[in-house]
Amino acid sequence: MVETVTLSDGHTMPAIGLGVYLNEECAEACRVALQNGYRMIDGARYYENEVQVGVGVGKSGVKREDVFITSKVFHEDFTYDGTTAALKDSIANLGSSYYNLYLTHSAIGGKDARLAAYRALLDGKANGMIKSVGVSNYSAKHIEEIREAGLEMPVVNQVELHPFCQQKPIVEYCRKNNIVVQAYSPLVRGALDNQVIQELSTKYSKDPAQILVRWSLQRGFVPLPKSSQPERIISNGQVFGWEIEPTDMAKLDALDRGKEGAVTWNPVDVD
Ligand SMILES: NC(=O)c1ccc[n+]([C@@H]2O[C@H](COP(=O)([O-])OP(=O)(O)OC[C@H]3O[C@@H](n4cnc5c(N)ncnc54)[C@H](OP(=O)(O)O)[C@@H]3O)[C@@H](O)[C@H]2O)c1
Repeated sequence: MVETVTLSDGHTMPAIGLGVYLNEECAEACRVALQNGYRMIDGARYYENEVQVGVGVGKSGVKREDVFITSKVFHEDFTYDGTTAALKDSIANLGSSYYNLYLTHSAIGGKDARLAAYRALLDGKANGMIKSVGVSNYSAKHIEEIREAGLEMPVVNQVELHPFCQQKPIVEYCRKNNIVVQAYSPLVRGALDNQVIQELSTKYSKDPAQILVRWSLQRGFVPLPKSSQPERIISNGQVFGWEIEPTDMAKLDALDRGKEGAVTWNPVDVD
């Protein structure tokens, strides 16, 4: 499970990552994931488990430089000083001198606030605290503000993305602008009882969750499946070396319900 994608800033990022939202066994999940081929952990300040991510990475025996770790600043800290302080605290929590990727968690708070937060992250990058800067839950209009302000563009936009909510306008914009799309809630938060997914699960002798992760990879996204169960963490990552045929990909594509298909906060339309 060492496939990677290259970001527009030249850094490489694993093609799949472990999500750790709402995981009280976060350190253990990180350990299991890293010992079974994962190389990316998707955390956030909001999840309150940055310390646990650092503990899990340490226990895994995988070297820090071989792990890609993400965190995100929440909108309540969207001032320049607030974001700078949040980033320093995140680094202390992790017990490492840097994050590979750091995101503004959403576009909530208004233009001035999100640009202030973004500027603080770019300065964090200049100071070596972050390797790559990105955003989450941003529509094209939010990213265009960054361009208009003359700032370096984000290399990643992380959005809710699965067959029921395919975020087509955002994906199209990101493709045109060389921004990698990370797919959060790629397992529809466990709501996997759809008939098409079940049929493909039987056809390919794969779990429904594996079908969804594989769909995400084949569509060029970087999925972040979460599980707190070791056997699921392992199986959710066994998504390489086999493929979903184009006709079956089309059946999954046809499940799109746009924003109606979202199962999370999906705050991509805020002003
Ligand atoms: N940027 C943002 O605003 C944002 C928002 C939401 C999520 N995220 C990120 O994306 C990650 C993933 O999203 P998510 O946690 O919302 O949802 P998800 O990964 O789509 O689904 C997680 C749910 O699916 C279950 N599950 C996991 N593997 C399974 C399997 N093989 N079979 C059946 N059920 C399975 C999990 O239960 P068990 O744990 O019991 O296995 C959990 O209830 C998060 O952890 C977080 O890192 C980011």
